[in-house]
Amino acid sequence: MGVPVSDHEKLKHLSGKIIEFMATPKPPLDVLLGSQDALLAMQDYFRSIFKLRRSDPRDDLISILVTVEEAGDRLTEEELISTCVTVLIGGHETTTNLISSGMLANRHLSFGYGPHFCVGAPLARLEAPMAINALLRCLPHPEIATDELIWKNEMFRGLERLPVSFG
Ligand code: HEM
Repeated sequence: MGVPVSDHEKLKHLSGKIIEFMATPKPPLDVLLGSQDALLAMQDYFRSIFKLRRSDPRDDLISILVTVEEAGDRLTEEELISTCVTVLIGGHETTTNLISSGMLANRHLSFGYGPHFCVGAPLARLEAPMAINALLRCLPHPEIATDELIWKNEMFRGLERLPVSFG
């Protein structure tokens, strides 16, 4: 996308907060307000990145989106923001879960169907073997070190944690 790597931790945190309300059945007020605050913070974050990329475009998705907006007046600032928020969140939780589910030898992935088919599917198909192979290079012969798998929620199929031992 073109967001600086140094902002990774901050964005991962905001992304987790934003999806918390989707992942919580009947979310209580504090969860809703936490998600709302995080969304507002992420929107502000993208506004400031757009400003930077408008004055100094780079070879990245945000610069392209900003240029498209200026040339053809096709994307409003709000549309730009929601596109970036969706891509950022869409690529975060899924990819994190992909690694632990992949370790469980879960071979099945679904990317949806029709006009909303996952735009990140080609990236996810590349990332999956890369992440698992890198992990296996560092931690050879992993074995699942628990009898109890705790899934985070029903919305995103992801494990709370996956203890692994290796030899
Ligand atoms: C294992 C990885 C992934 C899985 C299982 C997955 C799954 C899905 C599914 C099922 C949908 C369709 C949702 C619907 O029908 O409403 C979707 C949409 C989407 N995904 Fe993914 N995804 C993955 C990775 C990614 C990545 C890496 C990105 C971004 C780089 C991404 C960005 C998006 C976006 C932006 C949409 C919305 C598309 C639209 O509404 O037109 N996804 N994804």
